[in-house]
Amino acid sequence: MKAILLMKAGGVENLQLSEVDKPSIQNDEVLVATQAISLNPADVKPKYSDQMLNMFFGPNRPLILGWDIAGVVEEVGSAVKHFRPGDRVFGMINFPGVGKAYAEFVAAPAAHLAKMPEGTSFEAAAATTLAALTALQILEGRIKKGDRVLVQGGSGGVGHFGIQIAKAMGAYVITTSSGKNRDFVMSIGADEHIDYQTQAFEEELSNVDFVLDIFGGKVLENSIKVLAEGGTIFSTAARDFSADIQSQIRRLNGTISSILVESSGEDMNTLKGMMEAGTLKPHIYKTFPLAQMAEAHTEVEKGRTVGKIVVTV
Ligand SMILES: NC(=O)c1ccc[n+]([C@@H]2O[C@H](COP(=O)([O-])OP(=O)(O)OC[C@H]3O[C@@H](n4cnc5c(N)ncnc54)[C@H](OP(=O)(O)O)[C@@H]3O)[C@@H](O)[C@H]2O)c1
Repeated sequence: MKAILLMKAGGVENLQLSEVDKPSIQNDEVLVATQAISLNPADVKPKYSDQMLNMFFGPNRPLILGWDIAGVVEEVGSAVKHFRPGDRVFGMINFPGVGKAYAEFVAAPAAHLAKMPEGTSFEAAAATTLAALTALQILEGRIKKGDRVLVQGGSGGVGHFGIQIAKAMGAYVITTSSGKNRDFVMSIGADEHIDYQTQAFEEELSNVDFVLDIFGGKVLENSIKVLAEGGTIFSTAARDFSADIQSQIRRLNGTISSILVESSGEDMNTLKGMMEAGTLKPHIYKTFPLAQMAEAHTEVEKGRTVGKIVVTV
């Protein structure tokens, strides 16, 4: 089968379209004939350093990157009950861990997949995986109807799902992006927009119940200034919070946490339900063929993606 191999740590020149063996499956896995893959900053950043690659994928080189797929089940393991050959499925495979998604066939734990929503393209299904799971796993059970929710970076992968999920949960949604993406974020459910290039959100906002942060650093520090008493910050970027940040949060009787998204077929089914109900729709910014994986990585690296970048197989 064809796969994109990362030959060694470094830039996109090390991503090589190659011929490799088709994977075999375990009892609890299905073999998926991949039709579309989506990309994330987590796909593109680690390739530059052996230390990061080792942390995610272990020491073997070359290796196959990627986690987000949509495709057709070709074969099922003996313990798999809920999928059959021919099912159209989507999911984030083995995150955190080794997903090996940049390939024509992927061995995927059945527990990480859901059937695709009726009438959805492989591209749209592939797009609604890691970034959507992140937003769902942050927001589900933590916000309630009427909460003032600030989604930082609302035009990006996590952000554009965060806006829609918070809206579906009945929140009043405020979001940041550059001015060029104002119409986009308002069209997907934001109630209020802050252009981070011309406005300081910490001067414009107050009494925010929940902040979905994707930046850490100064954005996270300033997010504390807009928080209501008892408010919550959840960050995809920061892992450790300084003593100063923790004491500011304590003074507000608030909460601050970080998240590492996890593969979950159950959560994929929640996303499927939202897509079928029309409350969640991915935005695909650009699509590339598998042979142009390097160009797709370069596009993600620009940090200006509106929604998602998808690669077709
Ligand atoms: N911990 C986890 O489990 C986890 C999971 C998913 C993602 N992440 C991390 O979360 C971060 C975001 O991921 P993503 O997929 O959403 O990234 P992304 O799609 O690349 O985000 C790009 C978006 O960010 C916006 N942006 C850039 N600077 C901004 C600023 N100062 N204020 C507001 N918006 C700004 C851009 O909007 P404009 O073009 O309008 O500037 C663009 O639409 C990444 O660092 C990723 O690694 C972590």
